[in-house]
Amino acid sequence: MKALVIGAGGQLGRELVRAVPPGVALATADLPSFDLERAGALDLLLKEEVPDVTINAAAFTAVDAAESERERAFCINGEAPARLAQLVSERSARLIHVSTDFVFDGERARPYRPDDEPRPLGAYGESKLAGERGVRCQCPRAVIVRTAWLYSGTGQNFVKTMLRIMRERGAVRVVADQVGTPTWARGLAHALWMFAVRPDLSGIFHWTDAGVASWYDFATAIAEEARETGQLTAPVHVEPISTSQYPTPARRPSFSVLDKVATWEALGTRPPHWRVQLRHMLAELSVEEGR
Ligand SMILES: NC(=O)c1ccc[n+]([C@@H]2O[C@H](COP(=O)([O-])OP(=O)(O)OC[C@H]3O[C@@H](n4cnc5c(N)ncnc54)[C@H](OP(=O)(O)O)[C@@H]3O)[C@@H](O)[C@H]2O)c1
Repeated sequence: MKALVIGAGGQLGRELVRAVPPGVALATADLPSFDLERAGALDLLLKEEVPDVTINAAAFTAVDAAESERERAFCINGEAPARLAQLVSERSARLIHVSTDFVFDGERARPYRPDDEPRPLGAYGESKLAGERGVRCQCPRAVIVRTAWLYSGTGQNFVKTMLRIMRERGAVRVVADQVGTPTWARGLAHALWMFAVRPDLSGIFHWTDAGVASWYDFATAIAEEARETGQLTAPVHVEPISTSQYPTPARRPSFSVLDKVATWEALGTRPPHWRVQLRHMLAELSVEEGR
């Protein structure tokens, strides 16, 4: 099987490359040599690589910047995935496309199921929803996997930002009224490869680590776990604040927990709890940082 990972330099993309199953020939694409905004770039890529399965991990992921760069966000997250799906479908190949919990408005009182009505609150979520719809329309056999609150040892993310601020200031104020599920990109990458070898599966699936947390809970866990590994040497004060105390250009859902039951049944596996995954990631990062 030949697989193509688009967005291979991102935090999920790197984990996908790391976790490529034995026997799978891998091709990769990302900025700067491959640009989804360039007309014809996808056509050329698929013609050259001829993959059996493509995993699209590329996206415009800057949630706040998307508010002022709507056109770019829609081009990369909406139009490009639709074109990719069309090309994949013409070749009777497979597509695994990654989407987000931010397609939901966070008003529900229970975890979101794959078939719940999306209602994004901002341009990023709207552009990702446009991508989902384009993919489904152009390639009904595609798998769309929504995930949430991703982090990894590479790239910029909440865990690394918290560690930096905690080291620099010894204190941090974190929003306590937005709830979701922190998700290590490593676990998601393994799940995506499981989808890649399952041509019987199609449609929308949800994948995050297990459990639920607020950003405040997540930050508190980062502080505690990093003290255990020696990545933080002094105690840190984590102060819970409300969303209104931390205004951002984009509105975010207050509750974006995803219901993963259908995915667990389809793949026959469940992810570990987010705190277990955080511990693994920090231990690995600690070795890489030589702490
Ligand atoms: N991060 C989260 O918390 C989160 C939550 C829910 C869902 N997701 C979804 O999960 C997927 C992976 O996210 P991630 O966190 O791994 O994102 P990421 O680290 O930002 O990686 C995205 C990759 O796409 C590349 N890219 C951006 N614009 C491109 C373009 N025009 N042409 C080609 N490549 C381009 C980026 O390159 P540069 O780095 O050079 O820009 C980067 O390598 C995305 O679909 C995202 O929407 C993420």
